[in-house]
Amino acid sequence: MSFVNKVRATLRVGGTTMSYLTYKAMTRPQEARAFFRDVADAVTEFPTRSRKQLRTPTLPSVSLDRICPDISSVQLTIRPHIPRAHELTEAEYLSMAALIAYYRPRAIFEIGTNRGRTTRLMAEGAPASAKVYTLDLPPERMNESGCFPEANGALIGEAFRDAPCHTKITQLYGDSRTFDFRPFAGTMDFIFIDGDHSYEGVKSDTAHAFEIISRGG
Ligand SMILES: C[S@@+](CC[C@H](N)C(=O)[O-])C[C@H]1O[C@@H](n2cnc3c(N)ncnc32)[C@H](O)[C@@H]1O
Repeated sequence: MSFVNKVRATLRVGGTTMSYLTYKAMTRPQEARAFFRDVADAVTEFPTRSRKQLRTPTLPSVSLDRICPDISSVQLTIRPHIPRAHELTEAEYLSMAALIAYYRPRAIFEIGTNRGRTTRLMAEGAPASAKVYTLDLPPERMNESGCFPEANGALIGEAFRDAPCHTKITQLYGDSRTFDFRPFAGTMDFIFIDGDHSYEGVKSDTAHAFEIISRGG
């Protein structure tokens, strides 16, 4: 991590912690409690992790109500989702719908459109004025690179093309590693990373996500 990124990360961690100690502690006390419980768990569990575990990149799995304590109060109406290859599982799809209903983001960025079924889910669940940006490889590159055997550039975004919510959606094309995210800096309330699933790809997409996330996003 470069020095500048270290400073950025430190400021972000400090800012987040301060927000949970101050206004979020008053406005969303359950969320603040969950945040500090997670921090405490991470600190106490850290020494017990083996060197091997630390070398092996794994993400902790947390339940939705750990992130959003009152999420069970959210009411959802969604179509049944029968997942195809490379799509969200039913549980992930339901969780995504719940997160969108809970946070009501006005600006969403998705990395990895594929057919666009999750793009559509997010667009349908977001407020009427919301904008959804979704990025995929240029169709000809998706076909050529064969990033997965049945990849087909013609199918990118097919799930929302004819849906009423398509007016909220902007399809973007490019490789997320080299895409110019600067025009979106600090503007996105909700980001879904689901493109290049290699470690380096996810790392790069995550770094870009931190550049475009809005305050409180
Ligand atoms: C798992 S699929 C996305 C599924 C979609 N988010 C959904 O929920 O239905 C991954 C997509 O990421 C795209 N992709 C892979 N590498 C990419 C990259 N470097 N930049 C942009 N998109 C990429 C692929 O073309 C593919 O369409």
